[in-house]
This record gives sequence, structure tokens and C-alpha cells, in this order.
Amino acid sequence: MTYHGLYSRYRKFLDIPAYSQEITLLEGNTPLIPMPRLAHQMGGGFDLWVKFEGMNPTGSFKDRGMTIAIGEALGRGARAVICASTGNTAASAAAYAARAGLRAIVLIPQGKVAAGKLAGAAAYGAQVIQIDGSFDDALAMVVQITQRHPIALVNSLNPYRLEGQKTAAFEICDALGSAPDWLCLPVGNAGNITAYWMGFRQYDQIHKTGLPHLLGVQAAGAAPLVIGRPVEHPETLATAIRIGRPARGEQALQAAEESSGRMIAVSDDEILAMQRALAQEGVWVEPASAAGLAGLAAEIRAGRLNVRGKRVAAVCTGHGLKDPEIITRAFPAPRLLPAKLDALEELLLSE
Ligand code: F0G
Repeated sequence: MTYHGLYSRYRKFLDIPAYSQEITLLEGNTPLIPMPRLAHQMGGGFDLWVKFEGMNPTGSFKDRGMTIAIGEALGRGARAVICASTGNTAASAAAYAARAGLRAIVLIPQGKVAAGKLAGAAAYGAQVIQIDGSFDDALAMVVQITQRHPIALVNSLNPYRLEGQKTAAFEICDALGSAPDWLCLPVGNAGNITAYWMGFRQYDQIHKTGLPHLLGVQAAGAAPLVIGRPVEHPETLATAIRIGRPARGEQALQAAEESSGRMIAVSDDEILAMQRALAQEGVWVEPASAAGLAGLAAEIRAGRLNVRGKRVAAVCTGHGLKDPEIITRAFPAPRLLPAKLDALEELLLSE
């Protein structure tokens, strides 16, 4: 069956107005990749899959929400959209706005957005504005500006973003035949975990697919939902989730609790180690995207999570290409050789 995008595939499950337009780049339908070796490294005895959301058109899961949010904004007659972003939302909003013929304005925290995201937002033609402040400051600004001006807000405070993003839960259930026992994912502004929980519950009501326990994972330097209060100056190498006041924090905590799951934090070192482990399986994700699996590994290691005989899915939210510098900084420049075969032979034999 030819794939026409999320809107087309899941329209009947989406709570969206009749005036919504279909603005698609054929997002969704991302691979659920079996990870037997990684499961073995974590102690084995369970099935592990990665939902690789980096395979979406702009390289992150945000496209699921944006196809629906931008389609609604266009149908409503909006001429411009705005968001605050740590990068991925910006690139996605820019691409879908371009597709819809809308103006896109994106606010980003100064100096804290990975190169591939910034370049993406610019390439798709958004007006990119840096704020001398954090993501949380930028979000507060865009919320206020949309209250004063007819510009559509496309952060995950917009309910149509969640409508789109919940389809990832549908896809996982469709692929596995039912919900996994555990779902692990990174948590930043907390829209995605909220959307997954909506999706799993809805599919369970319709198709009796069951419910997973949710393991939401924050970076230790930006873990307001774990420590129980906002973080004024969040810090983490996983810049995508460098957020101190998650807009959907309450709902995320409720989702974790209702699912008999939990919210935990992992260090940047654990995140980078998991990014490497995934790359060794051929799946290169940006740092934030490795947080869910890093959390899973930490819980198993500490004996807090018994996954024996269970099915576990982990969401890898964005592609490694988004943040090339985190890799290139850690490696010396490649060796330079004269364009001579004997030089190559000599080098290869010496190593
Ligand atoms: N992973 C990646 C790669 C992200 O870009 C984000 C959020 C998350 C996880 C967390 O998802 O916010 O729904 O809890 N990025 C937003 C942005 C904040 O602006 O691109 P969340």
C-alpha cells in the first residue's frame, strides 16, 4: 500500500477540526529496529527495539506534530507560525510552514542549538531569532506574542502537535501487534511523553493493545521533573532537552504515574556512552535521543527494573546528523596522506 503520510493513515483517530488541511512530507512510518546485541549488552533476556524517529523528513519526531499543527493553522487562516525551540521544532516548523506557504518565525537560545538544526531552519526559510536567554525564556515570549498577534503557536502547548505525535504509539502497536511492556524516551518540554500516553490509551480502547510502562528520561543537569522543581539554569550536552520548565510537565508526571512507570535522570556521560553504543549498531542518533536507552541501561544495571522476558521499545527522537560537532570535536582530524598507493599500504600495514 502506498504511504501518504500520517494525516492520511490515521485521520480517523485524530481529534482535529474539519477545516484542517493536509500538509505532508510523508512523515511517520519510521522503522522499529530490533536491537538484540544492545539488549544482550544490557544483560539480555529481553526484546529491544528502537523506534528511529530520526528517519522523519526533517530528521526528528517533531514532523509528526508539525504536519497536523501546520495543517490546522493553515485551515484556520493563519498566515504565520512561531515557536521557541532547542532546534528540532524550529527546523520542522520551518519545513512544514514552507510547504504550506506560511511565514515561520523561530526563537532559539543563543549558542545552544546544534548546527544541523540551525542550518535546517535557515534552509527551509524561517526567520531565525536568537534569544539572549534559555529555551524557557523563549517559550514564555512566543506564548505572549501569540496572545497579542494573529500568529499561530506551534510548540507542543498546541494540542494538534500532540494529536500528530501520538501516532508514533499507534505505529509501535501496529508493528508489534500490541503495546510493548516498557517504552523509554527522552523528556524535555514533556510534550512527546504526553502524546505517547494519549496514543497508547486511545489504541488500547479501540484495539485492546494494552498499555506500556513509561520510562521518561531527563538529563541530570536539566531534570526538573525528577527533582520536583524548575531548574533556572539547565545544562546538558544534550541541548535538545536543555529545558528547566517543561510546558507539559504535569501531564508527563501523570502519564508516568498512570502507567506505573517513572521519570529518571542520567548523566551526560551515560548519554554519550549510549550514543556510541547505538552507533556501533549502525544507528546514529543525536545525544538527547540516546537518553531513553541510557536510562533503561541504568535502571537495569541498578537492579531497579526487571525486564526479563519483556518487550521494550525505546524512542530515538532525532538523527545524529543534527549534531555533527559533538562527534567531530571528540575525534582528531582524519589522517592526511599523499595520493600514493604505497603510502596507503604502508599505513594500513603499520596498524
Ligand atoms: N529528543 C529530541 C531530539 C528533541 O528535540 C526533543 C525536544 C526531545 C527529545 C524532548 O521532547 O520536549 O516533547 O519532551 N525538542 C524541542 C525542540 C524542545 O525545540 O526541538 P519533548
